[in-house]
Amino acid sequence: MPNPIPQTMSAVLLTGHGGLDRLVYRDDVPVPRPEAGQVLVQVTATAKNNTDRKAREGHYSTRDDDEAVSFAIGGKPTLTFPRIQGADVVGTVAAVGDGMNPARLGERGLLDFNIYGTGRRDINLVPDYFGHGADGGFAEYVVVPDDQFHAVTDPTLADAELAALGMCSYQTAYHMLTAADIHPGEHVLITGASGGVGTALIQLCRIIGAIPYASSTPAKAPALCELGAQAVFDRRDTRDFVARTAAATGGVPFDAVMDLVGGASTRRFIEAMTFDMVARTTYPRLSIAGASESNVSEIPWTLIYLYQVRIVGVSHGTRAEAEQLVHWIRAGRLRPVLQAAFPLSAIHDCERYFVDRAAGHLGKVVVVPDAQWATHGAPFALA
Ligand SMILES: NC(=O)c1ccc[n+]([C@@H]2O[C@H](COP(=O)([O-])OP(=O)(O)OC[C@H]3O[C@@H](n4cnc5c(N)ncnc54)[C@H](OP(=O)(O)O)[C@@H]3O)[C@@H](O)[C@H]2O)c1
Repeated sequence: MPNPIPQTMSAVLLTGHGGLDRLVYRDDVPVPRPEAGQVLVQVTATAKNNTDRKAREGHYSTRDDDEAVSFAIGGKPTLTFPRIQGADVVGTVAAVGDGMNPARLGERGLLDFNIYGTGRRDINLVPDYFGHGADGGFAEYVVVPDDQFHAVTDPTLADAELAALGMCSYQTAYHMLTAADIHPGEHVLITGASGGVGTALIQLCRIIGAIPYASSTPAKAPALCELGAQAVFDRRDTRDFVARTAAATGGVPFDAVMDLVGGASTRRFIEAMTFDMVARTTYPRLSIAGASESNVSEIPWTLIYLYQVRIVGVSHGTRAEAEQLVHWIRAGRLRPVLQAAFPLSAIHDCERYFVDRAAGHLGKVVVVPDAQWATHGAPFALA
């Protein structure tokens, strides 16, 4: 049976757009109470995502100016302050709202981080998420929808590892593949392949039978191949990119590119799909969900329309995709790629580490409440 629920908790409050000083660790934040349709989760681990930093720094403008804003859902921004960030929450059910199943008390689970605009399972057009439009997991407790907190009981998967399989990376990765209609046997280039979304893409390609190729740094090649990459291309070597990729695929163009990098590189990625249209049997597809290099790519329209490139923008996936991913997690088909855990009170160190990652960094970083650190964080502390 869970422990009694305190009145206040430790949490990191985002107090406004700006630098690290906007993240304030407090131990007097009221513990939220679950309402009908909700459960209260005692947090044991929450994965970090780029979106935490982007939202804090105000990088979600879709306008062509420098104004620091966040994206607007239904016409108005949903990020208000103070906000507790942290999308990929793992923990145990500590209380249930009116009418909810008390048998869930003590159950371990993973949050589907979306704030869905509707009940539809097949489409998600107004993507917002816990940690942005509502409080997330950089706290000791969080209230979430009962039907989006998915039980994962596998005792061989530590809570921090389960958080590293969180939906912000995995559901985005899966939706990149479904939106581009990837089929078994297709050759798929993954850019930014060593990150949270990239490592998810490599594994998901293998699950659906596609052949993943990675663009990354050479030092990470053995680990990426071990995860499932067929070959790894040095992202810093821009010469003869098309020829090098063609040599790896047996001379055929990539069927599709999953692009997390953007900037000047994207043109090369498209050329690696279009250099021989006679060899193709499907349209070239470019699925975009991130921009680690730059938010702006200069691409001739002729390259797009003459070669009939299908470009799809991807933010969050659907309820059905989240449930499929949980099914694969429960079945042990996805492997967590966890680089390091940090205590919640060290959120500034964690943010700095996340932004200036060392050359060998692979996969995810997880934050663990201090009271849970010995059990759930210390085994994964940064060496
Ligand atoms: N649309 C969505 O819902 C959604 C969800 C999650 C993430 N994203 C976005 O997707 C992108 C990747 O996210 P992530 O969480 O996987 O990131 P991540 O864990 O931070 O990994 C990004 C990887 O990209 C590579 N990289 C970094 N800077 C680069 C540069 N200038 N040029 C090329 N590659 C670079 C690095 O690997 P190497 O050094 O090995 O190349 C790095 O490990 C980000 O832009 C993020 O904001 C979007």
